[in-house]
Amino acid sequence: MQHGLGAREHQHRGFISTGDDVLIGRVITGTRSDDGKVLMRAIGQMLGAAGVSDPLQDPTLELVAGEASFFGGLRRIPYLAGVSPEIALDRVAQEKRSEVAPVAGIRDSFPSLQRRQGDAAVAYFDGPGGTQVPRAVVDAMSDYLLHHNANTHWVFPTSVETDGMIAAARFALADFLNASPNEIAFGANMTTLTFHLARALGRGYERGDEIVLTELDHHANVAPWRALEKDRGVTIRVAKMLPETGQLDWDDFERQLSARTKLVAIGAASNALGTITDVQRAAELAHAAGAQIFVDAVHYAPHQLVDVRGMDCDFLSCSAYKFYGPHIGILYGRHDLLAALDVPKLLPSSNEAPERMETGTQNHEGIAGAAAAVKFLASLAPAETRRASLEAAFAGLHDRGHQLVRQLWNGLSEIAGVTVYGPAPGAARTPTIGFTVGGVNSADVAQRLAAGAVFVSNGDFYATTVVERLGLAPDGLVRAGCACYTTEEEIERLIAGVKAIAKKDQS
Ligand SMILES: Cc1ncc(COP(=O)(O)O)c(C=O)c1O
Repeated sequence: MQHGLGAREHQHRGFISTGDDVLIGRVITGTRSDDGKVLMRAIGQMLGAAGVSDPLQDPTLELVAGEASFFGGLRRIPYLAGVSPEIALDRVAQEKRSEVAPVAGIRDSFPSLQRRQGDAAVAYFDGPGGTQVPRAVVDAMSDYLLHHNANTHWVFPTSVETDGMIAAARFALADFLNASPNEIAFGANMTTLTFHLARALGRGYERGDEIVLTELDHHANVAPWRALEKDRGVTIRVAKMLPETGQLDWDDFERQLSARTKLVAIGAASNALGTITDVQRAAELAHAAGAQIFVDAVHYAPHQLVDVRGMDCDFLSCSAYKFYGPHIGILYGRHDLLAALDVPKLLPSSNEAPERMETGTQNHEGIAGAAAAVKFLASLAPAETRRASLEAAFAGLHDRGHQLVRQLWNGLSEIAGVTVYGPAPGAARTPTIGFTVGGVNSADVAQRLAAGAVFVSNGDFYATTVVERLGLAPDGLVRAGCACYTTEEEIERLIAGVKAIAKKDQS
């Protein structure tokens, strides 16, 4: 089918939902006054051929007809079959916006997704505890160990190569966090790095100085600061969460700040509920009170592109194993602060920032893997610079995660006996949902889902205070987290699994 088109015209993709099937085609906007009629005739012919009797009853048709003049070359999109028109519409719009690699292509990069249990492929919803790892990350780690392995700072080639690899990794992680390479330190994990930072900062604190924490936090962002109560006599103040929404109580947060506040230690995202907290706002308030701010970005970094400059934070930590890398932690510190910190260290080791933050011999292969994880994420949406690629990749992945979390939230909410916690889709959140199934303990739910090859975690995930405030201690929550490889079909399997557990329990 052809249609005369002028130079000003451009193309859109549109779709027609026909219940179970979604037909998708190319829509070309035109300038002729009878465009709508031409379109409707073309659609009518195509739907007639597809056996659809009354296409005009479908509300989504109007959307297409309103702006388009010509519709041709319909094809079926198998992965949209069966999804609601609302999700299909969002999905098509998202595809139009996003340049990020398709999920099927992303999945091919992860050998572990081939794992089967009985007849079923394993569906991994344990990302908030640690994501799967793409082959490129493992290749980078084995390449380092097999061909370049050495200690640092010597003159022979493998040592020089190791120095080069670590320097390059600092550049990669700096792109990941929007920092400078001399602001990136590596360490065992976020917990260890935070204890280390706390000890160093604590040397500058006096009895009665105050640190503000929040109830939403993982205890890796609690215990290191609580240790300073004992070691330095500081006072810990804890800002409340709102159990109904799983969000920070900002009024209470402001009440906790005072002229004595030295530090605000705050999570950018809750690993139990998925809540994203506006750390930029917290930074403004902290700085206005004369305090510094440390951000725990462990659960945030896999889902939102960290921007330490935008957040205006002084320190931030995250862990590569949560964003498709190996088990290693990363600490960002503003360069002048890292350089001035009274950090416990060995005298002969480098006193330059960021090396002065790093104790002993580092996990070189882990550093190679962390850099490869950043490269993997950037490769999902190639652009002119690595940071621009990361921005495009995270924008696309965020849109996808948003669809998935809405599908999961809606599906779980409809099951009698299931309660979902945290902010509803639409509010700032990651694609991680904590829920309970009435009458069934969280370990049993996880166990029964695992029997069907659906892997979810359960318990308090060290977000102990969140679980207490929700009145769910000691059993805790079931937690399902979506990652870049999660599909709608896996979400449907999870929902069906929970439905079966809830039903069995009621019968
Ligand atoms: C939000 C959050 N913060 C901190 C941590 C601790 O990270 P690490 O295991 O790297 O010490 C975790 C781990 O699950 C987490 O989810």
